[in-house]
Amino acid sequence: MQVIRSITELKEKIRQVKQWGQTIGLVPTMGYLHEGHLSLVKGARDDCDFVVVSIYVNPIQFGVGEDFEEYPRDLTRDARLCEEENVDIIFSPSDSDMYPKGYATFVDVEILTEGLCGRNRPGHFRGVTTVVTKLFNLVEPDKAYFGQKDAQQALVLRKMSEDLNMNLELVIMPTVREPDGLAMSTRNHYLSEKEREAGLALYRSLTRAEELIEQGLRKSQEVISAVEQLINQEPLVEIEYVEIVDTKEMERLEELRGEILIALAVKIGKTRLIDNVIVEV
Ligand code: PAJ
Repeated sequence: MQVIRSITELKEKIRQVKQWGQTIGLVPTMGYLHEGHLSLVKGARDDCDFVVVSIYVNPIQFGVGEDFEEYPRDLTRDARLCEEENVDIIFSPSDSDMYPKGYATFVDVEILTEGLCGRNRPGHFRGVTTVVTKLFNLVEPDKAYFGQKDAQQALVLRKMSEDLNMNLELVIMPTVREPDGLAMSTRNHYLSEKEREAGLALYRSLTRAEELIEQGLRKSQEVISAVEQLINQEPLVEIEYVEIVDTKEMERLEELRGEILIALAVKIGKTRLIDNVIVEV
């Protein structure tokens, strides 16, 4: 496995790999890898000849007052984990290579980015779509792997690749959870023991929502209220949003029908966590 930091070196390597006729799988990450990330890497390893994992804490997707500075970074540990998964290249560029002085070009997906996390994180998705476009252009993957855990991100990126006729396939992999149900996330490391315990309310409430729908509840607002009620039993958890939307346009639903996404975001202390489930009604 090679750790490549320079864009020039990466491009040269990609040129060779293309010449050999190999298929390329890309797993974009911000590092500090966990089993959720590694499930994407395994997916890429199964499907593609050559696997690139990008590790880059992308400054332009963090808002003012968000955790860009504190975001954990440990390339040595990440490299060991990638090596174990037979990754071919880690690409970990510098900020000055990705956004040199005078950088001026951004990719912006409209509409889908307005609701859910977009409402509370202005500019976030613009940062994500811009960096992912750059990574696609640099790595030229046949397939790129993303997690359902960030459902809106996955949908926005799919829309971007369709709208801009990008020449690759996006693969969305299921959310990997801890044995007690907490969705794996780098940000879980910020939680104290008590906060982590309180965080279990997220998946518990989503599971309850699934049960209620299974039992025949079809009014969105009633399901949302049940979720909110369960979460509010945890005084440490502050709800940012609980919403039910369709999985294509991400429009709010009143009556539950078809494939729906129940998505939520909360704050536990200073830590922002998100989770979701998809239910076929
Ligand atoms: P990051 O949070 O590091 O996540 C990288 C990828 O791992 C994303 O596609 C995310 O959805 C997926 N992932 C995270 N936790 C997961 C879990 N528990 N189960 C399954 N997949 C999981 O998302 C980003 O980085 C950035 O926004 C990025 C796309 C790299 C652009 O900077």
